[in-house]
Amino acid sequence: MKIDIENITMIYPSGKKALSDVSFHAVSPGFIGILGPNGAGKTTLMKLLIAGLVPTKGEILLNGKPLLPQEKELKAQLGYLPQSFGLYDELKVTEFLDYMAALKGIRDKAEIQRVISCTGLEEQRKTQIRHLSGGQRQRVGIAQALLGSPQLMILDEPTVGLDPEERVRFRNIFSELAQDKIVLLSTHIIDDVQAVCSRVLIIDGGKILYDGEPSALIEQTEGKVGVYVAHDGDAVPEGCRVVSKVNVSEGVLCRIAGENLPDYAEPVRPTLEDAYLCCIHEGARA
Ligand SMILES: Nc1ncnc2c1ncn2[C@@H]1O[C@H](COP(=O)(O)OP(=O)(O)O)[C@@H](O)[C@H]1O
Ligand SMILES: [Mg+2]
Repeated sequence: MKIDIENITMIYPSGKKALSDVSFHAVSPGFIGILGPNGAGKTTLMKLLIAGLVPTKGEILLNGKPLLPQEKELKAQLGYLPQSFGLYDELKVTEFLDYMAALKGIRDKAEIQRVISCTGLEEQRKTQIRHLSGGQRQRVGIAQALLGSPQLMILDEPTVGLDPEERVRFRNIFSELAQDKIVLLSTHIIDDVQAVCSRVLIIDGGKILYDGEPSALIEQTEGKVGVYVAHDGDAVPEGCRVVSKVNVSEGVLCRIAGENLPDYAEPVRPTLEDAYLCCIHEGARA
């Protein structure tokens, strides 16, 4: 499978420009994390990809041909987890998955069992959705997206509201998925991307600020992150911003990022989070 997004601009009827001249290309297999603050345009991009929105300008190609006339082919190969989705509270987990499978034209009952075990929902299979925890509901959402082993999976903030243990479980599910598919996962939790994605897109203000390997983004930030112990009244060094502050016995351990670190800051190896924050900050300045 191959997806080409060519110079997409999306302006909502309200006049809000949510994406501005965005291009990217993906071929399977690929696990792509889409990172960006709230309002960056992540959901808009995903809705365009599932043909739920029509771009104002530009073109989306699926396997080299325009997406919209192939909507049926797309839906047959698509697993989608929307950012907010309604579940049928009165249905049991298996009943809901049965229903979703029917909508997708899947008749094989073994497929329902397969997605239940993939997402670790065996114990909840006969539970009404209304009685599930937040994380279990999210898992039901993932399970329906997995039905039929779609070649394209679009997961819009699937780990929001999950506790750390559940997030780890999700990552394990996701990394198994990536082997033969295109998976697009939007999140603002950087650890999710670090754990599973071979490629990351950083979006802010409707523009792609970075597209590449997470490790290359970190390299790009090398030498721009440092730590020092600050005391009361110390100003933030010029041109730098504070990434984190931790109280220690000597004062406040400040982690700062900037093009030119002051001499007293000891350079440290940047994390993906540092690199992400630098990227967003530089994008905002540009
Ligand atoms: N239906 C809509 N009508 C008008 N503006 C919208 C609509 N949906 C989203 N937006 C705006 O478009 C921008 C991008 O939104 P969205 O794609 O949801 O971002 P993200 O998913 O990264 O938080 C935001 O400024 C948002 O307010
Ligand atoms: Mg969103």
